[in-house]
Amino acid sequence: MSQRHRIGILTGGGDCPGLNAVIRGVVKTSLHLGYEVVGFLRGFEGLADPAEYIPLNAQNTTGILVQGGTILGSTNKGRFNATRGEDERTQLAPDLVEAVRRTFKKLELDGVICVGGDGSLTIAQRLFEAGLPIVGVPKTIDNDLSCTDFSFGFFSAVACATDALDRLHSTAASHDRTMVLEVMGRHAGWIALYAGIAGGADVILIPEIDWTLENVCAKILHRREMGKKFTIIVVAEGAKLPGGKLIKQEEGGALRQSRLGGIGNYLADSLQSHMNIEARCVVLGHLQRGGGPTTFDRALATQYGTHAVRLIEEGRFGEMVCYDAPEIKSVKISEAIKSLGRVNPNSSIVIAAKAMGLSFGDIPGYSNPFKDSKITELPASSKYNPALHQLPSFDDEEM
Ligand code: F6P
Repeated sequence: MSQRHRIGILTGGGDCPGLNAVIRGVVKTSLHLGYEVVGFLRGFEGLADPAEYIPLNAQNTTGILVQGGTILGSTNKGRFNATRGEDERTQLAPDLVEAVRRTFKKLELDGVICVGGDGSLTIAQRLFEAGLPIVGVPKTIDNDLSCTDFSFGFFSAVACATDALDRLHSTAASHDRTMVLEVMGRHAGWIALYAGIAGGADVILIPEIDWTLENVCAKILHRREMGKKFTIIVVAEGAKLPGGKLIKQEEGGALRQSRLGGIGNYLADSLQSHMNIEARCVVLGHLQRGGGPTTFDRALATQYGTHAVRLIEEGRFGEMVCYDAPEIKSVKISEAIKSLGRVNPNSSIVIAAKAMGLSFGDIPGYSNPFKDSKITELPASSKYNPALHQLPSFDDEEM
């Protein structure tokens, strides 16, 4: 057995429920295997000039499973940015990479686990390309990483947005109003889609489906004709205006990505001026990132933490853990960051939403939701079946 040294972990990008559950999963697994663990502070910033880190152990990670945020701190801007705009990747400064290399050497790191979204994993890939032993864990409330069914944190954000919709329903109904809820998600509509369905919204507007104001108005009118005087709309912050314009709070630059937001208020104002209705907007914002993780995210984050240590143990650097339900697997980070994981407009969840009468603002009325897609059969081998997997069934096991 090779001599064991030390594993490092950092949490990069925006915070997200479940980060502490991953840290705990990594620390518990590593300690069992005989590694020491260090946690770098404030994301990649803690890796170099100066290296800032703390030892992680059973004492300082106890009780963190349920806590929101990250005990290591994080940042989504700074010297390590390697992403610009929707799809543009950049390189890291060579002297920064060399400084990180010195930290790895000094701390005798066997590997560093980078927990992050698309931007942080792009940085992780750059460090891996420079020869450093890096593995990744997919984190983002936006769920916009490809090659994994879900990133942890996503369902916690959806739970928050769904709760907001439940609350908006009663006030909207009491005042015969149209309520617009703007949710996060950057250039993907996952949060809007899942929360919209779970919260019984009437209209969902997402970046992946082109919409028009006329079609949204048609839906509101149709509801009025049916005697329903209120309407609930969920709009993703990255849903572009008809014509393609993206509303931003702040343009991005070399050190950070653009800040999206503003579409919700724009939509509510437009609806008020086009129709004789009262419309209000709620921007849910960082409430979606705050608070503890849901049960699903606690379980997923824990598994991700364990599997990330396994990747280091087995020398599988440059890989990211991923969820291929119900198993945790891994994929090359380079594959995972190739393109954003966006909503497929013909996927079963969009079809179910349409079947519920939900409008995506793409057509004025209702059309057969099944018409543009085919049923996909699950290959028998992908279901758990003891006979197929040549494993003993539980009944055969010795007690
Ligand atoms: O990527 C997570 C996310 O919360 C996005 O949904 C949102 O656009 C962005 O981060 C907000 O970033 P900040 O915390 O810098 O405002």
